[in-house]
Amino acid sequence: MKTYKRTLVTSALPYANGPLHIGHLAGAYLPSDLYTRFQRMRGTDIVHVCGSDEHGVPITIAAEREGVTPQQVVDRYHSLNKRTFERFGISFDHYSRTSSPVHHRTASDFFLKLLEKGVFKRKEEWQLYDAEKQMFLPDRYVKGTCPSCGHPEAYGDQCESCGTSLSPSELIDPVSALSGTPPEKRRTEHWYLPLGEFQEKIDTWIGSHPEWKPNVLGQCQSWIQAGLSDRAVTRDLNWGVPVPVDGADGKVLYVWFDAPIGYISATKEWAEAAGDPDRWKAYWQDEQTRLVHFIGKDNIVFHCIIFPAMLMAHGGFVLPEQVPANEFLNLEGRKLSTSRNWAIWVHEVIEETDPDLLRYVLAGTMPETRDSDFSWKEFQQRVNTELADVLG
Ligand code: MF3
Ligand code: ZN
Repeated sequence: MKTYKRTLVTSALPYANGPLHIGHLAGAYLPSDLYTRFQRMRGTDIVHVCGSDEHGVPITIAAEREGVTPQQVVDRYHSLNKRTFERFGISFDHYSRTSSPVHHRTASDFFLKLLEKGVFKRKEEWQLYDAEKQMFLPDRYVKGTCPSCGHPEAYGDQCESCGTSLSPSELIDPVSALSGTPPEKRRTEHWYLPLGEFQEKIDTWIGSHPEWKPNVLGQCQSWIQAGLSDRAVTRDLNWGVPVPVDGADGKVLYVWFDAPIGYISATKEWAEAAGDPDRWKAYWQDEQTRLVHFIGKDNIVFHCIIFPAMLMAHGGFVLPEQVPANEFLNLEGRKLSTSRNWAIWVHEVIEETDPDLLRYVLAGTMPETRDSDFSWKEFQQRVNTELADVLG
């Protein structure tokens, strides 16, 4: 068995486009916190980083909906969520944000390294364009019918009904999420990560981890069997990390390219704050580091295939040793949903009750192997019988 000198734990960076709900906690942050606290008690050298994911279409759409700037949106939710994690007792060693200068530099340098190594393909393609709003429509800026299951409200990056990952041009009868009009097509140039070239390496590497959870291995295998293909790592948007190349005005790094690099930036900021700026290197570059990514099931492909391929392409970084992904937590039998306002907001519930009661009940109903359900009735029962009666 491999021996490790230190452990780096990451928790998925939550989008700074809304408040945290109990599904976030049960999916990633409570399990990572339990693991980290346990390892600290055992004396493990362990660092736990997280931060706000502040780029991409999820942020710009929230800004448009609320009639404010993207910066205002991320400022508001970054401070709210950071404070909520603290009050709920999630003990990160560092909570960063992807708008930080350290992150912009780190993500930019990572892109440039891959560019220098000749990793990317540069391609010109037809993409959907909103003539009224005069902008390209990446990802969630397009809605339409899912080619796979016929769901009429699929997004340009994914169908939430069947889970298929999509690109905007695959949607049937697409409309712009901004103007509601059918988009036209225009030519645009982007940088692509040729994932197919990494297929064998990724397959072998995942094959060396039979101990990963079955839900994680299952998703990886279905992606690999379908065959990995080129993925654009840039977008036509004016919010994000600018593509660091001359003549790339109006283009930014795709949010799923920059965000996982945020784990590295957060570790750098942690080391800086600890007064030992080079210390992050041991956690990312020394083979005797155990890297563990805590995530929800919708993040599996990014953490088990795409980010590892980026790390391989770059070279010199450790790969994740374990990716504990949880399934989803439902609320009283229905899927949690921010847009349908079906959620228990963490910052609200901790005003009403001791966070430890919620930690206890969520720890007992965590969706570790299948979707699970939270109800107030069960909360009441567990607190009364297990905590007040038995433990009391
Ligand atoms: N913001 C993403 C989500 O909520 C997770 C980003 S994880 C990272 O689904 F690896 F990209 F940081
Ligand atoms: Zn579908």
